Amino acid sequence: MRNKLILSAATLVAALAFPAAAQDAAAGKKAADMRCAMCHGSDGLAMAPDAPNLAGADPDYILMQLGAFRSGARNHHQMSLIAAGLSEQEMEDIAAWFGRMQLTVTIPPLD
Ligand code: HEC
Repeated sequence: MRNKLILSAATLVAALAFPAAAQDAAAGKKAADMRCAMCHGSDGLAMAPDAPNLAGADPDYILMQLGAFRSGARNHHQMSLIAAGLSEQEMEDIAAWFGRMQLTVTIPPLD
């Protein structure tokens, strides 16, 4: 019984965090260029020193963080406002767009 409750609570959280909307990366690019690029870069590499890179981030992670800013679980004077102004569809689309970017990483040699 208890396990069942925990399971259904987890399902509910998952359903809220990851709504089953179709993602449209092209719409996400448009929205991200207008609303996110000034800090996170149109290539997902941050322009502002206090903003993280979003290029190549897992869309689920982006959605989780936007959800946390919206719910107040994570608080930031700019991002909390920005996340509050996004629809579920916009969040899905933007997450899909940044998630599709591919990064190349150069591991530095240790001397
Ligand atoms: C005015 C600058 C600014 C704009 C515009 C902005 N962000 Fe942010 N964003 C930040 C900063 C600063 C942080 C770091 C917040 C913190 O320190 O907790 C952040 C953090 C995030 C994170 C968490 C990333 C992580 O690695 O934890 C996500 C996801 C995010 N932003 C998405 C977006 C999206 C999507 C948009 C556009 C709809 C956007 N941001 C627009 C400044 C901005």
